[in-house]
Amino acid sequence: MATSTSLHKALVCILLLLFLPFLSLSEYYLPINPRLEKAYVALQAWKQAITADPKNLTLDWCGPHVCNYTGVFCAPAPEDRHELTVAGVDLNHGRIAGTLPEDLGLLSDLALLHLNSNRFHGGLPEAFERLQLLYELDVSNNRFQGPFPAVVLHLPSLKYLDIRFNRFRGEVPRRVFDLRLDALFLNDNQFAFSLPDSIGNSSLSVLVVANNRISGCFPRSITDLADTLNELILLNASITSCIPEDVGKLKNLTVFDVSFNNLVGPLPDSIGEMRKLEQLNVAHNNLSGDIPESICELPRLKNFTYSYNYFCGEPERCLKVRSRDDRENCIPERPHQRSEEECIAFSSKPVHCDANGCMAPPPPPPPVHY
Ligand SMILES: *[C@@H]1O[C@H](CO)[C@@H](O)[C@H](O)[C@H]1NC(C)=O
Ligand SMILES: *[C@@H]1O[C@H](CO)[C@@H](O)[C@H](O)[C@H]1NC(C)=O
Ligand SMILES: *[C@@H]1O[C@H](CO)[C@@H](O)[C@H](O)[C@H]1NC(C)=O
Ligand SMILES: *[C@@H]1O[C@H](CO)[C@@H](O)[C@H](O)[C@H]1NC(C)=O
Ligand SMILES: *[C@@H]1O[C@H](CO)[C@@H](O)[C@H](O)[C@H]1NC(C)=O
Ligand SMILES: *[C@@H]1O[C@H](CO)[C@@H](O)[C@H](O)[C@H]1NC(C)=O
Ligand SMILES: *[C@@H]1O[C@H](CO)[C@@H](O)[C@H](O)[C@H]1NC(C)=O
Repeated sequence: MATSTSLHKALVCILLLLFLPFLSLSEYYLPINPRLEKAYVALQAWKQAITADPKNLTLDWCGPHVCNYTGVFCAPAPEDRHELTVAGVDLNHGRIAGTLPEDLGLLSDLALLHLNSNRFHGGLPEAFERLQLLYELDVSNNRFQGPFPAVVLHLPSLKYLDIRFNRFRGEVPRRVFDLRLDALFLNDNQFAFSLPDSIGNSSLSVLVVANNRISGCFPRSITDLADTLNELILLNASITSCIPEDVGKLKNLTVFDVSFNNLVGPLPDSIGEMRKLEQLNVAHNNLSGDIPESICELPRLKNFTYSYNYFCGEPERCLKVRSRDDRENCIPERPHQRSEEECIAFSSKPVHCDANGCMAPPPPPPPVHY
């Protein structure tokens, strides 16, 4: 190890000596330190792995001054404020095609990596494990494939993980919910998993898992996120259960979307306690009963969509919500409702919250000692 470090240093010195005669005076004061030298190796390897760059974003990725490259951002190194290092790479909307080489692990001070809306394929490099400062990782809207990129589980600083709109498939490891993430976007991949109870361990403020092959129950422990959760989007996730009665504990929720699932049972009254709620979408489920008036009285509610269910009662107040959709229910006197036969057929069947064994019975009361 020691030999390779000193070898490396020697190499850098030689390189610097080679370059010095060509540097202008101002560049003298921005010496290329070992961190930037490693970044140069990483970025050149990446450039090699790029097969198309229609906007020429990497055209100026030449020469050792990586801080001048388009999309590359330098900042003082965390442990040494006198040394510049590559802290961010942002190639959003580049439509770049190619792969991410293992050499990117050399960008060990990277805090931000934004690659959304490109055409990268393959997986995330194992060497990302070395990006111990990585805080925001956005690879959304690319062509990444294969299993969930488990390397992210080794990133202690990660707060924002966005891998939506790719071709990842298979299980999502439950350990992802033990990371101290702030936002997690998994939607529009081909994941097949059920939301684990460890979801309550996370510190998420935004969770979007729509359009994957999720199955199972509405995760009850999600109410443990009451202090942090802001947006919960579980749409089209094949969830089959009732909505837990205490879901209203999520008092900081502004967006709540559970549309296109197989939810059954009533809409819990407690939703009327989500005082910050602005968008509520429960459309395309098998929900029934009356819409609780308290929901329609929520002060910030702008859009309440509950079409394509079997609701049979709707308070007057609900007609005043700014944007509202109540079509295809069983509500008397309202236009565009289901047929009477359909409504009767539905209501003749009992509702089973415990389909799939979802609502486990409450634990037995603790033993009483006399
Ligand atoms: C990119 O560079 C090539 C060759 O230098 C040029 O022909 C093309 O017009 C450039 N494209 C854009 C979008 O600048
Ligand atoms: C880096 O960019 C600055 C500003 O555009 C320029 O003045 C400087 O010469 C560039 N340095 C190198 C080495 O390209
Ligand atoms: C995460 O949650 C599970 C189930 O709720 C629990 O058993 C486990 O101890 C938790 N892990 C951490 C790290 O908090
Ligand atoms: C639901 O997700 C599946 C993929 O899992 C997709 O094929 C389907 O179009 C989605 N349905 C809706 C209504 O978005
Ligand atoms: C959640 O709401 C409480 C009470 O309104 C507030 O004190 C807290 O800061 C909020 N948390 C977040 C993360 O918004
Ligand atoms: C929802 O209702 C429809 C029509 O009654 C029925 O075919 C379907 O099986 C129901 N789904 C669930 C999950 O109850
Ligand atoms: C209300 O929400 C629904 C479902 O998310 C959406 O389709 C509709 O466009 C929204 N309406 C307005 C006015 O934003």
